[in-house]
Amino acid sequence: MVLSPGVYGEIDDDRALTALRSALDEGATLIDTSDGYGEDGHNERLIGEAVRGRRDEVVIATKFGFRLPEGVEGHSFPVKYSFEELAVNAEPQHIRGYAQTSLRTLGTDYIDLYYPHFPDPKVPIEETVGAVAELITEGLVRHLGLSNVTADELRRAHAVHPVAAVQAQWSMWAPIDPELHAAARELGVGIVAWSPLGSGFLTGTVRNVGEDDFRRFIPGFQAGNLQANHDRFAPLREIAAEQGVTPGGLALAWLLHQDEHVVPIPGSRTPAHIAENLAAARTELSAETLDRIGRVLAEVAPQGGTRLLG
Ligand SMILES: NC(=O)c1ccc[n+]([C@@H]2O[C@H](COP(=O)([O-])OP(=O)(O)OC[C@H]3O[C@@H](n4cnc5c(N)ncnc54)[C@H](OP(=O)(O)O)[C@@H]3O)[C@@H](O)[C@H]2O)c1
Repeated sequence: MVLSPGVYGEIDDDRALTALRSALDEGATLIDTSDGYGEDGHNERLIGEAVRGRRDEVVIATKFGFRLPEGVEGHSFPVKYSFEELAVNAEPQHIRGYAQTSLRTLGTDYIDLYYPHFPDPKVPIEETVGAVAELITEGLVRHLGLSNVTADELRRAHAVHPVAAVQAQWSMWAPIDPELHAAARELGVGIVAWSPLGSGFLTGTVRNVGEDDFRRFIPGFQAGNLQANHDRFAPLREIAAEQGVTPGGLALAWLLHQDEHVVPIPGSRTPAHIAENLAAARTELSAETLDRIGRVLAEVAPQGGTRLLG
């Protein structure tokens, strides 16, 4: 997401491609994108270019139904960021068209993991996943995912077709919905943790956000709140320093210790950050350290909302 303009600051295609290729060279095996990242399939097009000749090395996950093509009606999906709602459409009759466009922009003949970006409030989830299941039968898609769903929606969808992964916001400052987590564990569904670095906050390096930065819509980053939150989360930076890791490295390692089947998907434009984030997968945290982190998180609440959903 961060590799398309208009998200977290400056980016151009050369820098984005360098970042993607460095991730593959460092051993990353999953790339997460969406037909809604950047204008007109920009993000998927970059990924297609980066994986050309090495498609087999990588699992490509993409999403549909969020940035809508002309003529597709938007259905209001309420959110907690300050823009308050998104326009989505996951009606079955559009899904084949979304997939064909993504296949074209990605330059591939199959999508490994395909998610409705958001559940459509006007469409039963069973109907949306039924349309994806058809694409799986035809070999255009390998696995079904769900993004930003409730536990109930996950259960209902899974009854129609096995769900491989559920994507949910989850980080030290934006906990996962415990019911969704429990349902995923029970059903054996992998959990893909989005914004695992708290949209960068948990690295301790974000001290202000500019007018062109998407995070200005996240209350926890807004004036007054960001500094207060930086101070509140200082104990985690202290634990990271004691462990000899960066605060971001601690945030990713912590997530990986929360569930055997969690996959954090940090976003970065910077090869050194990508290498650091991948190294976090090898960081072992002791039960005592996890306990200390747990106690800090139980005591510290962010000032201003940090979660996209309720
Ligand atoms: N399903 C959904 O609705 C949804 C919503 C949001 C995001 N996502 C997915 O989740 C992915 C990640 O989310 P995200 O980008 O919002 O948040 P994130 O991964 O929590 O944070 C990204 C930010 O952290 C910075 N960063 C990354 N590694 C760093 C490091 N080692 N040291 C210092 N700074 C570092 C990046 O800056 P640099 O570029 O400078 O490294 C970037 O500004 C997205 O790419 C997208 O695929 C999904």
